[in-house]
Amino acid sequence: MAFWNRRKPIDNEEPLEEHHTLKRTLSWPHLVALGVGAIVGTGIYTLIGTGAGLAGPGVILSFVVAGVVCVCAALAYAEMATTIPASGSAYTYSYAVLGELLAWIVGWSLILEYTVVCSAVAVGWAGHANEFLHGLGVHLPTWLSTGWMADHRFGEAFAFDPAKGLVSLPAIFISVVVAALLAVGTRESATVNSLLVVLKIAALVLFVALALPHFDASHFQPFAPYGFAAHEEVRDGQTVKVGIMAAAAIIFFAFYGFDAVSTAAEECKNPGRDLTIGIVGSMIVCTILYMVIGAAALGAMTYTDFARSDAPLVHILQSLNQPQAGAIIAAAAVIALPTVILAFMYGQSRIFFVMARDGLLPRGMGTVSKKTGTPVVMTVFTAIVVSIIAGVFPLGEIASVANAGTLAAFIAVSAAMLVLRVREPNRPRVFKAPLPWLIGPVAIAGCIYLFTSLSHTAQMAFFVWNAIGLVAYFVYAMHASRLKGR
Ligand code: ALA
Repeated sequence: MAFWNRRKPIDNEEPLEEHHTLKRTLSWPHLVALGVGAIVGTGIYTLIGTGAGLAGPGVILSFVVAGVVCVCAALAYAEMATTIPASGSAYTYSYAVLGELLAWIVGWSLILEYTVVCSAVAVGWAGHANEFLHGLGVHLPTWLSTGWMADHRFGEAFAFDPAKGLVSLPAIFISVVVAALLAVGTRESATVNSLLVVLKIAALVLFVALALPHFDASHFQPFAPYGFAAHEEVRDGQTVKVGIMAAAAIIFFAFYGFDAVSTAAEECKNPGRDLTIGIVGSMIVCTILYMVIGAAALGAMTYTDFARSDAPLVHILQSLNQPQAGAIIAAAAVIALPTVILAFMYGQSRIFFVMARDGLLPRGMGTVSKKTGTPVVMTVFTAIVVSIIAGVFPLGEIASVANAGTLAAFIAVSAAMLVLRVREPNRPRVFKAPLPWLIGPVAIAGCIYLFTSLSHTAQMAFFVWNAIGLVAYFVYAMHASRLKGR
């Protein structure tokens, strides 16, 4: 078989070497918690404001578009995750169905996605931490609470100005704390995660309960001040993409995370049942929740008043004369948003682990600690990179780059589902996605459309990252692959 087309066997009976296997400690309640824990985060707590700034009240439609694409992709994920219950998510499914080269591109894109998502959520967390600290009378100077790129234009000369951002200390702090928690061991982290998920959802329900009574339909007029399709506009001297689809391309961030569940496949006690409930269940819970929160937020306040806030839900409650409730939301976000970083850092370390086990990355990158069952070295490495990005860059751009990598993975998984349906129609499937020839193409076309609606910077970052990846593949991975010569 040609190198680019060589595929891993789907029914992988190969004995796994010692130190390269993971413990089976998780069951479906852990996975739903891991899923909701990974999905509900900076997207709904912070990017709802950014999205409203790009689309106006029409951001509610952005939620619908992004939600539909993600539900279709989630169904494809559930089918693939239960058909190939091995670690590695989209990368592993692509390797078994689409061949090594495409799998490499997906794996390399996932490394970008998972790292950058952690950074984006850390920045969202920092916004709420700053808000929380203000409530306690603690004011970090701007240069320690805001990243340099968040406060400077591209190409602006460096000159230290204490009134402008330099590094986001809270964002770095939380990245390091979560990495330490993860390095202690999966089971412990997943249990803590379940408790924090409950807190996070309770805070959002509180927001809805307090904001809905102030619902004013006139806030939805005009509904789409920036139109539907993504198009460029100059704002504050910067060229930005606006419109309902531009917002959807960013809001998409709020919906994913269920794919992190599938990276836990090798650690499930009963992968068929656990993964199906984990992926589809967490997706449904979150989609319903977002629709209600979006309507409550937009109905309570004119979107221009909260679009620029680093903590829009807190800001809305403060403006509704509910400062204590605002403080509760900020506190809940501070305590619970780290579950999102946890889920993605966990997924990240597993992607490294599986790619290293397949020989595509150096073996040392996949080594699992005997004591904790987690890959400690790569967790530390991930934490360092996440901290650097989170400490310096602005949320909107980081989230867009993360979305680019995720969209590529979603396209691959949906395509893999369709290809496998044709190639092996009679293969037993624990979970079969309904209407595969509708949801597969909708997911693929929707992801491509969202990708074209992303900012040029994010698209460029994605292509440059993958160009580097292709060099790494042809120089190293292609020759080191375990499938070489088979
Ligand atoms: N969906 C996750 C969030 O919104 C990535 O934080």
